[in-house]
Amino acid sequence: MRIVVTGGAGFLGSHLCEALVRRGDTVLCLDDLSTGRLENIEHLRHLGCEFVRADVTRPIDVTGDVDAVAHLASPASPPDYLRLPLETLAVGSRGTENALRLARQHGARFILASTSEVYGDPLVHPQQEDYWGNVNPIGPRSVYDEAKRFAEAVTTAYRGLSVNTGILRIFNTYGPRMRPCDGRVVSSFIVQALSGEPITIYGSGDQTRSFCYVDDLVRGLVAMIDSTEAGPLNIGNPQERTVRELAELVLSITGSSSAIEYFPLPQDDPTRRQPAIARVQGALGWAPEVPIEEGLRRTVQWFAARPDAVAAAARSLRGAQSDPERDRAATDPSPAQAHLVSADERAVPSRA
Ligand SMILES: NC(=O)c1ccc[n+]([C@@H]2O[C@H](COP(=O)([O-])OP(=O)(O)OC[C@H]3O[C@@H](n4cnc5c(N)ncnc54)[C@H](O)[C@@H]3O)[C@@H](O)[C@H]2O)c1
Repeated sequence: MRIVVTGGAGFLGSHLCEALVRRGDTVLCLDDLSTGRLENIEHLRHLGCEFVRADVTRPIDVTGDVDAVAHLASPASPPDYLRLPLETLAVGSRGTENALRLARQHGARFILASTSEVYGDPLVHPQQEDYWGNVNPIGPRSVYDEAKRFAEAVTTAYRGLSVNTGILRIFNTYGPRMRPCDGRVVSSFIVQALSGEPITIYGSGDQTRSFCYVDDLVRGLVAMIDSTEAGPLNIGNPQERTVRELAELVLSITGSSSAIEYFPLPQDDPTRRQPAIARVQGALGWAPEVPIEEGLRRTVQWFAARPDAVAAAARSLRGAQSDPERDRAATDPSPAQAHLVSADERAVPSRA
């Protein structure tokens, strides 16, 4: 098959491109490199992964056959989407429609990488797909949450036009190729532990999150591409951990003696986030397989092999904590402040 992956140079996109070329597909990766990196897919170029630098908020024209379009392009971490609010809205809306038009022109399967953030700060637990969510439309995260909700709506409208669409709602995912400074809880804890800096927890640390290892997630993305399921399907690891447990796990895997420090919980931070995955299990036969201890070990190994990037990220996290006005993040987000305002992974209060 020939598969177009938008956002293919990002964290999840690059793992998806890799899984596809390794099973024999050819891949066309479209990415504007706003939050992705070419080095994530450099090793795939000789395996049948073509890269074109393109902003998918502009019309997309692809010659030759296209069998599937996987639309992953979007800033995804809080520092990124707070820094790029209009771009995030544009890629979720215009970008999604352009990717859908491309699928329609080619009679291709279309997959939307949606997010657990469509549930906002959920009032039901665990979150089932028929829950409509609790999103603040003018809150700090609305540029991301509402863009994804629009993306789901426009995808559903194109399904009404006979496009073979599928929506996956992705929950917190972690693994190698996360950017050390992206402000998500797993990468932040690992950076702090490896650098001997205090691990920062926002709130009491009793809030829970569920973390899925990237290889499991990508297996689900590929299964969704191969199916005709409409979704929406939640995809993520339902095993809950408190944020404090996560910090302790990272400390034990890294062998670090970093202390744990506590900061106030940011605005709109959900206390629990856990996917109900019965639907995806039934529809795709998918379930997560990699235990968090093993996934974290692999991720720590990857970070430990990049000491310069880890040291730079540790400096930027330290800057965030020394800012007495960090709660301004909602209205005046510098990357450091945004670290405190959660997103897909709000594992830590508010941020990831
Ligand atoms: N990682 C997670 O835990 C998670 C959870 C839920 C949903 N998602 C979704 O999965 C997708 C990938 O997330 P990620 O974690 O890999 O993020 P990422 O930032 O690493 O990757 C996003 C990619 O999209 C590209 N991009 C952004 N705007 C673009 C545009 N206008 N045109 C072309 N390319 C553009 C970026 O350069 C980057 O390579 C996103 O849509 C995100 O919303 C991720």
